Amino acid sequence: MPADLKMYGISKQKGQISVKSKLEEIRSAALSAIASSGSTAELETIRVKYLGKKGELTSVLKMMGSLSAEERPVMGQLANSVRSEIETALDSRASELKVSELNERLKAETLDVTIPGTPVVRGKKHPMSIVLDEVIDIFSGMGFSVASGPEIEYSDYNFTKLNTPEGHPARDRQDTFYFTDDDSVCLRTQTSPMQVRVMETSPLPIRVISPGRVYRKDEVDATHSPMFHQIEGLVVDKGVTMGDLKGTLNTLLQLLYGPETVTRFRPHHFPFTEPSCEVDIQCFECKGQGCRVCKGEGWIEVLGAGMVHPKVLEGCGIDTSIYSGFAFGIGLERLTMRRFNISDLRLLFENDMRFLKQF
Ligand code: DAH
Repeated sequence: MPADLKMYGISKQKGQISVKSKLEEIRSAALSAIASSGSTAELETIRVKYLGKKGELTSVLKMMGSLSAEERPVMGQLANSVRSEIETALDSRASELKVSELNERLKAETLDVTIPGTPVVRGKKHPMSIVLDEVIDIFSGMGFSVASGPEIEYSDYNFTKLNTPEGHPARDRQDTFYFTDDDSVCLRTQTSPMQVRVMETSPLPIRVISPGRVYRKDEVDATHSPMFHQIEGLVVDKGVTMGDLKGTLNTLLQLLYGPETVTRFRPHHFPFTEPSCEVDIQCFECKGQGCRVCKGEGWIEVLGAGMVHPKVLEGCGIDTSIYSGFAFGIGLERLTMRRFNISDLRLLFENDMRFLKQF
């Protein structure tokens, strides 16, 4: 007896009955398994179990050979109809499950587009950037271009070429950061070396501003920081006078602080300009009477300036019998503090959002 027949408890004599009942058993077992299946994966397991190559229906079909010639077509037909019934049931359950699985997935993956999103904090310009951009805007309008230069500078450029020879007190190690034992490289103490760099490399005439960081060995307090910002300005052309310097700087200060701004040009000394001056604005608080804001002076100093020293021009190969120039250096922190009434310079560098959000 073939092993299959033994497995299903079928004897040759009762062949037809047994095959028939076996087929019916398979049908009802398969149909109920299909009906109660809960997923397409489970359905596939059922398909393999009953209809697969090694499945139960196939096993029964293998027994057909043991049936008589009359029995075989009858049982064959029954087997085919069982197969197609199971297949139909599989198909229709599969499409049911597909729909319910899709619905479940849609439910699980539901996105509530009405939930408020995570707010993105909008950045703001730093107050010094606001003022610097205004200054650049004003000078652009007067035909100036913008140049930037190195913060690590040769002492030659920072001092010597600016008529500040060795032995000058400004070069003291107490005042400045040096990189080399021979003091030949330093953190620039001013943006003025950019005057020399521009004159050495640019065709005349020159109209340029150069903003950037500068460094000095200062203790931090309400008005000092070892790192701060300057905006250098330089004009070199034929027939440039102190009148051009005054007109340019008055224009800047009135556009920045308002048309009623009163300025004062006070004689001063810088090694690289001759004559030199400091420029004050009349105190906006007391209108020159003297108060807490201007420390009783009535005036507030805002920048240094002057006519470029002939030695500096000639050092850059400029013929001083034809050309003259003026230069100025503005402290950006001071300008910003005046502009927004900020009383302590440290606020500008502490990055406290509560402070910065106000601008
Ligand atoms: N560099 C000077 C300083 O740091 C400021 C200055 C004064 C710049 C006069 C200039 C100038 O260009 O002409 O104190």
